[in-house]
Amino acid sequence: MHSFENILLEKAAANVYCLTVNRPKVLNALNQATLQDLAAALDVVASDQDARVLLVTGSGEKSFVAGADISQMQGLTPLQAKRFGEQALAIFRRFETLDIPVIALVNGFALGGGCELAMSCDFIFAADNAKFGQPEVSLGVTPGFGGTQRLPRLVGRAMAMEMLVSGRMLDANEALQRGLVNHVYPQAELMEQGLKMAAKIAKNGPTAVKFSKELVQRGQDLDLENACAMESDLFGLCFATEEQSEGMQAFLEKRKANF
Ligand code: CAA
Repeated sequence: MHSFENILLEKAAANVYCLTVNRPKVLNALNQATLQDLAAALDVVASDQDARVLLVTGSGEKSFVAGADISQMQGLTPLQAKRFGEQALAIFRRFETLDIPVIALVNGFALGGGCELAMSCDFIFAADNAKFGQPEVSLGVTPGFGGTQRLPRLVGRAMAMEMLVSGRMLDANEALQRGLVNHVYPQAELMEQGLKMAAKIAKNGPTAVKFSKELVQRGQDLDLENACAMESDLFGLCFATEEQSEGMQAFLEKRKANF
């Protein structure tokens, strides 16, 4: 267990980290100090060569993250607000570029910066009480942690526009229908399901998992030809790893691979 002021970072299983935003009194709202803790936690996970999966969740049963901390944001100057947004964007980008898959376990409100944090993870599992939304316009601002860009990429332009300009929240089932979340589970099962998925991922060749994430992340902003060329390169590179020899040998010997 690593201790930070506003988050908890623990090993939830061998090779699986769980990061919990831990400010339940304010529904885990993200202030500057919490963003700094997130960055420090990412340093710990990124430097652990044995880490295979990162789970991200919120403390308590009511909220994943209810957004950026409005009481801290209220008095910011334009330049401070810009800097605050840039700082969060850079940290959220690190979830996307982390070597290992990151799964958001959304256990309640994922609003504003909370929805943006969840969308920066590789995929989302939601508890049945989850609520997703970008209510920033009701506060007289736009999203600032990537919502206008990641939401349309995930749910399509029209639904993203509806959410962004109305502030309407999606419940867990609607989020599932719209492709924002992969699965919905009863709240009491959310962590267990996250750990189950993490265990499945951790059994696979870690380099192949890492390359798969890198190909999706880097490929989605490229044209198909260049993106597929990048896939050929990394596919080829897999054949330089012991994981490939072990994985294929194990299949042919009808045994489980040991990575
Ligand atoms: N920032 C600061 N404090 C927050 C907060 C936030 N984003 N969200 C909730 N809180 C605080 C509340 O002020 C309240 O504190 P007190 O007990 O001291 O009054 C406490 O958390 C509990 O919240 P509520 O009493 O409001 O709980 P509720 O169940 O009645 O309502 C809610 C829950 C609908 C999530 C409501 O709290 C809410 O609307 N929160 C704000 C959501 C929001 O607008 N998020 C976007 C923020 S802007 C942003 O994120 C910009 C960006 O893109 C960077």
